[in-house]
Amino acid sequence: MVARNPDRCHHRPGGHVLRRTGRTGTGSDDSGGNVMSKTIGFLGLGHMGGPMAANLVKAGYEVHAYDPSAAAQEQAGKDGVALVETGVAAATGRDIVITMLTNGKLVRDVYAELLPVARPDTLFVDCSTIDVADAKAAAEAATAAGHRALDAPVSGGVSGAAAGTLTFMVGGADTDFAEALPMLEVMGAKVVHCGGAGVGQAAKICNNMLLGISMIGLSEALVLGEKLGLSHQSFFDVVSTASGQSWALTTYCPVPGPVPTSPANNDYRPGFATALMNKDLGLAVDALRANGVEGRIGELAAEIYREFNETSDGRDFSAIVTEVRKRSSGWAT
Ligand SMILES: NC(=O)c1ccc[n+]([C@@H]2O[C@H](COP(=O)([O-])OP(=O)(O)OC[C@H]3O[C@@H](n4cnc5c(N)ncnc54)[C@H](O)[C@@H]3O)[C@@H](O)[C@H]2O)c1
Repeated sequence: MVARNPDRCHHRPGGHVLRRTGRTGTGSDDSGGNVMSKTIGFLGLGHMGGPMAANLVKAGYEVHAYDPSAAAQEQAGKDGVALVETGVAAATGRDIVITMLTNGKLVRDVYAELLPVARPDTLFVDCSTIDVADAKAAAEAATAAGHRALDAPVSGGVSGAAAGTLTFMVGGADTDFAEALPMLEVMGAKVVHCGGAGVGQAAKICNNMLLGISMIGLSEALVLGEKLGLSHQSFFDVVSTASGQSWALTTYCPVPGPVPTSPANNDYRPGFATALMNKDLGLAVDALRANGVEGRIGELAAEIYREFNETSDGRDFSAIVTEVRKRSSGWAT
């Protein structure tokens, strides 16, 4: 879902740019230490975490991983990831602990279990997509327990996780970001330091709220075009270079044809599941309300995806175009 950054550079707040130090993680960190000597605990080997951990192992990192799911364990074992019996075993005595979990409550519960047993000054890096408030609370808990923390949610989906081309949006201190960077570079093509604790999650939620809104808007325009006799290809040829242009259209076109690699060409599978868009829009609405932002379109997008999620049958979120078509009155097929 994410285009590679051609110069593979890394942006820090204030305009500082960190250049990539090497794909295999063999560079040095800011203190001159060899990053390969850092040991990693990894919790959550699901669709995203499994391939991310596998890429760290391939790059030569020592990874101790845990997931309670037998299926996740089996796949991780096939990928060469060393498994341990508990989350505590994964985190104890490591330099860095990565979590890739389903929601904020789980992240906070896992942190409550791990923070007391981890070696002092461990760097906790949470890559899950969670509420900004949960991310800040997790970082505060880590700091209070004598550790350090970054929120580092990702964009790029399962294919990006497998290919090591994720985009990381990172919140936390400069020095902690610098320490994590070589490791994040192994799993991602672009790493952006967005600001302090929770600001990585803020970037993720803002981006996905905009993506959900633009996919709905694009779908409405496409269906209107259909009604008016405008072919998908003509729509694409005009709008892709006109003022209505968007990533949703040019990279992820929700109708088959104009962009052959988009999920629409394969019955909307695989892709970024509607359930995940629904989750992210829920987080965005929580953030809009918690911060007193009038986000009428964001709220409406969340409502539309909440309804569509009931019947989406695991399809990619761009299948919303089929729902717009279905609900359009007088549609003759
Ligand atoms: N799937 C995507 O395309 C995608 C894209 C971007 C971001 N994300 C985000 O990444 C996160 C992970 O997504 P996913 O698709 O990999 O989810 P997933 O459900 O496939 O994986 C989560 C894993 O966590 C494991 N787990 C549960 N409790 C645990 C514990 N106590 N300790 C260790 N592991 C535990 C589960 O068994 C599961 O394997 C989510 O927050 C999601 O929103 C997903």
